[in-house]
Amino acid sequence: MGKGKLVKWQELATFDRVFEPPLEEAVAGKDSALRGRWHAEVFGDDRPITVELGCGKGEYTIGQARRFPDRNFVGVDIKGHRFWRGAKISNEEGITNAAFLRTRIEFIERYFAPGEVEEIWLTFSDPQPKDEKGTKRITSEIFVEQRYKNIIKPGGRIHVKSDSPLLYELTKEGYERSGFDIRYASDDVYGELIHRVPDALRDLLEIRTFYEQMWLDEGRKIHYLQIVV
Ligand SMILES: C[S@@+](CC[C@H](N)C(=O)[O-])C[C@H]1O[C@@H](n2cnc3c(N)ncnc32)[C@H](O)[C@@H]1O
Repeated sequence: MGKGKLVKWQELATFDRVFEPPLEEAVAGKDSALRGRWHAEVFGDDRPITVELGCGKGEYTIGQARRFPDRNFVGVDIKGHRFWRGAKISNEEGITNAAFLRTRIEFIERYFAPGEVEEIWLTFSDPQPKDEKGTKRITSEIFVEQRYKNIIKPGGRIHVKSDSPLLYELTKEGYERSGFDIRYASDDVYGELIHRVPDALRDLLEIRTFYEQMWLDEGRKIHYLQIVV
């Protein structure tokens, strides 16, 4: 049996680069002390920052941090005991270019200043099938317009990877309706997309998250969208 949540929460508090600010501050409309300070206070350099939203165990955050020591990565999730795994690996391997933030994505602008982020990854996000308007689906064009565009640099990329045909179709339709610059759209990453992308993107797409491996084992296809904002 795995470690209990309590033990994980206690251990998280001892790790460098794990941030769990009180959610009430963001709910009350207060900016985090981290906002605009990630380079200076957390990473101590001015290298580009990629954020993984809904990072779960943090496989993309850690996988990318290992591959790109010249960039910085922040995994965000509301459940700290989930990203405990990524934070633990990061701590054990001495990875200094990865950090984890516990908060709700709805408040992401309280934690990052305009232009502070260069790329966003949304990995296996909940499809929210009943959310017709897209106000809860964190991949939706509404989240891009109202939140992500406020933290990402102009020309930055947003990557969406999912097992869900519904999430993929709804997200793609929303991006098309909004006139976003869609660079890649595929409903079969391993069947076709990886054969037509540059090596660097293929390398990134081959990082597999916990949920992704489960879905692959069940024989599902993986979907991917990339937009430039
Ligand atoms: C289906 S899991 C995917 C986790 C991971 N990306 C993976 O592929 O294994 C969705 C994750 O998003 C997180 N999440 C969902 N909605 C969120 C929100 N509004 N704010 C922060 N985290 C959220 C959940 O806690 C969960 O860890």
